[in-house]
Amino acid sequence: MMFVIIVLLTLLSHVPALDVCPKCGNMEVPYPLSTSDNCGNPRYRIYCNSGALEFSSAQGFYYRILSINPSARKLVIRPPLIVKNTCCSSDLSLGGLSLNENSSFNISTHNTVMLFNCSDNILLSPLNCSSTSFCRQYEEVGEGSGCKGTLCCHFLKDTAMTSHRIRVRAGGCTAYTSVVDIKPDDPIDRWNYGIELQWLPPL
Ligand SMILES: *[C@@H]1O[C@H](CO)[C@@H](O)[C@H](O)[C@H]1NC(C)=O
Ligand SMILES: *[C@@H]1O[C@H](CO)[C@@H](O)[C@H](O)[C@H]1NC(C)=O
Ligand SMILES: *[C@@H]1O[C@H](CO)[C@@H](O)[C@H](O)[C@H]1NC(C)=O
Ligand SMILES: *[C@@H]1O[C@H](CO)[C@@H](O)[C@H](O)[C@H]1NC(C)=O
Repeated sequence: MMFVIIVLLTLLSHVPALDVCPKCGNMEVPYPLSTSDNCGNPRYRIYCNSGALEFSSAQGFYYRILSINPSARKLVIRPPLIVKNTCCSSDLSLGGLSLNENSSFNISTHNTVMLFNCSDNILLSPLNCSSTSFCRQYEEVGEGSGCKGTLCCHFLKDTAMTSHRIRVRAGGCTAYTSVVDIKPDDPIDRWNYGIELQWLPPL
């Protein structure tokens, strides 16, 4: 009898929380992504807030999740808003997007990041701040219009850079956006705005 109880207890304590999480609004939450302690894998925490899936940065800023591709282990989050009539990203006070160094997520190499209202020091960097930079087109559209005429640049966020942050700050660059898989000839209305993140396979 005692033996049976011990075996049962052992089994119970080893049942991993492997359940797939329920849908959030109309979006599936594929494993290992986890919206609560009771489902998914806790190392892949995302949030279901009022029926919308969100990703939290290390600083606790929430970014809306636009799409998830579980087989490629990728998800795309919405870049922060640029506050109307300004050239400041809504996460400026937090320094932009940053992920924990230990996070199971990192920023993929498919993002073309545009920075706006930069200080002159940026010209010492290898970023493309020319008059043909993609950022010049973005300044012409609604959300970017507050940045019109500021010094702006773009770059492909590839393996030469940190994959854990996109930095903005007063006195540096104060706004940013990102486009996934931009193609040089794409008209701006085809740009796929987002920041693509990828996740490590569960151990
Ligand atoms: C990252 O992991 C290391 C080792 O596991 C730990 O010492 C450190 O505190 C962690 N850092 C953060 C920011 O969680
Ligand atoms: C900057 O980017 C634009 C758009 O992709 C490109 O046409 C141009 O050649 C780039 N300039 C430099 C200096 O890399
Ligand atoms: C540009 O950045 C400076 C700080 O670096 C800030 O004072 C200014 O308000 C910003 N410009 C706009 C249009 O937001
Ligand atoms: C980001 O994570 C992927 C796995 O999901 C890994 O292959 C890649 O090397 C990581 N990139 C960096 C720069 O750490």
